[in-house]
This record gives sequence, structure tokens and C-alpha cells, in this order.
Amino acid sequence: MMLTSVESKLDLDAYFQEQMTRPKRYGGQLSPPFQKALEDYHAGITEEDCDFYHTIDLGDGRLRTGAWDLRGHEEVYLGCCDVTGKRVIEAGPASGFLSAYMASKGADLVVFDLPFGGGPELVPFAEANMGELAASGRQSMKRLRNSWWYTKRKLGFQACAIYGDIYDPPKDIGRFDISVFGAILLHLSNPFRALQALSAMTNDTLIVTDVWNAFSTETGAGANSLRKAHMIFAPSALPSGIVHWWGLSPEAICHMLERLGFPNTTVTKHVPKNMPSAPSMFTVVARRAAR
Ligand SMILES: C[S@@+](CC[C@H](N)C(=O)[O-])C[C@H]1O[C@@H](n2cnc3c(N)ncnc32)[C@H](O)[C@@H]1O
Repeated sequence: MMLTSVESKLDLDAYFQEQMTRPKRYGGQLSPPFQKALEDYHAGITEEDCDFYHTIDLGDGRLRTGAWDLRGHEEVYLGCCDVTGKRVIEAGPASGFLSAYMASKGADLVVFDLPFGGGPELVPFAEANMGELAASGRQSMKRLRNSWWYTKRKLGFQACAIYGDIYDPPKDIGRFDISVFGAILLHLSNPFRALQALSAMTNDTLIVTDVWNAFSTETGAGANSLRKAHMIFAPSALPSGIVHWWGLSPEAICHMLERLGFPNTTVTKHVPKNMPSAPSMFTVVARRAAR
């Protein structure tokens, strides 16, 4: 291929430097005008515009029903961590049930979800129409985001929201005392990179809650043994399997967090009692090593 004289004048070093650093990617979102714009954008949302992931009592005499009923289970789900007065980032807040809880406990809360127009990362199923599934995923995410704003408006809790790339979060959001990953890692193609990205801006504690899977029960290895550190590619059948990338064992999470400088871990296993399906969950609370 011949370079024209115009192309040959391109400053390739500057081009790649600029593309690599992109300092303003999704920047400016925590400014009051941006938060106000988000609030205004969602002010007209009605219940018909929402999909509820959580079962939530919005205080008007009618329960919104979602697939996940964590009522009465909030504290255990969050590893019994005290969030009062802490700056907390919650990755993937869905309909905001845990956001409302943490805000009610006095957390200074920022929630972080997919950007406008974004959809979940889809497991490639060769037999599926991926284009159609991607479009419906984007639509579902919009309706889910609407539900967070609807919940916030109805319950009136305080929190900021930002949207972007979980693998490359905005650089201007400051540092956090606590990062919360509630049932999100199984939905990401690269859970370790997501943990790495948010742990880099976390001073004290990471809370990771995920689904206990059949592979987590191996016996015969000691606590935190690498033999139990499973991350298994095991999507369930379609349709739900399209967003179920991994079965992660608690030890896998602990091992990842240890690599990232959070070696002091506790693991609890629990079941949300209000859910007839009684899904087994686990929560890892990991504290940063003293420096
Ligand atoms: C299963 S819900 C978890 C809800 C809540 N954290 C809980 O534990 O009850 C998953 C959340 O992760 C978000 N999510 C999924 N993929 C994401 C991605 N690639 N980047 C950011 N958020 C994502 C979804 O929008 C949703 O809010």
C-alpha cells in the first residue's frame, strides 16, 4: 500500500499516545450539573419503563417484584460490613435495592453501571442470533437503569450514579473506602480485570458476593487452597446463559484479591431466605494489606 503525502504527515506517536490515555473517557460525571442532568433525564420514568431485578417495597403500598428478593438479607449479602460514613462504589446496582440500603446506613454512595446505549457482555452461542440478543440486551439494560432511578425517586435516597466501562472506569471519580461487586462478576467476560480496575481505586475493603456453584464444594483441600480456586466457563442453557459467563469459587475470588493487594479475607456462605428457589450465595470481604 502506498502512503499519500497527507498520510505520511500523521504524527503517529501523538495519535497512539492520545488513544491510549484518553484521559477524559466518561469524565465529568460526578459534577453537580451532570448528576442533575441524569436526574432530569430520568424524571419522567414511569413503572412501565422499568424492569425490576430486585423485589422492592417502594413505600406506596405495592411491592415491585423482581427475580431477586434480598429483603431482610442485606447485611449478610454485604458481608456484614459497616458502610456508615464510608465512600462506597457499587458496581452493577441493578434496581437499587442494595443502593437504598447502603444509603440508609449513611454510605456516601456512587453506583456504577453500563453506559447509555450499552448492553451486557454476551456469551457467544453459535446457534443464537447474537445481533438480536445484543439489541434486546441493550433494551433490558435501559429498562434496568430506569428502575434504579425510579427506585431512587420513590425512596428518595442520596447517591450519585456514573456510567462507563467497568474495565476502564473514569479517572476523575476519586478514591473509595469500599467497593461492592454484588452478583456481577459472573456476568463479565473478564472478572479479574474488573476487580483490578476498581481495587486500584479502593483504600480499604472489597466486598464480592456471587452465586455458589456446584464446583465450589470440592472437599479435601485446605482453606484458600489453590485446588479450590475455580473459575469455570459454564454458561447455563439459553436464554439466561447468554449472560452467565463463569462459575467462580470463593477461593478463586480470594486468590484474585490477594494478588491485588487485599489478602485479608473472610468468606461466608448464605441463602436469601425470602427466595423460594433458595440460591446459595457466598460473600468475600477482603481488606487491603497494611502498607
Ligand atoms: C445481576 S445484577 C446485580 C445486582 C446487584 N448488584 C445485586 O447484587 O443484587 C448485575 C448488574 O451488573 C450490571 N452489569 C452487567 N454487565 C456489566 C458491565 N459489563 N459493566 C458494568 N455493569 C454491568 C448490570 O447492569 C446490573 O446492574
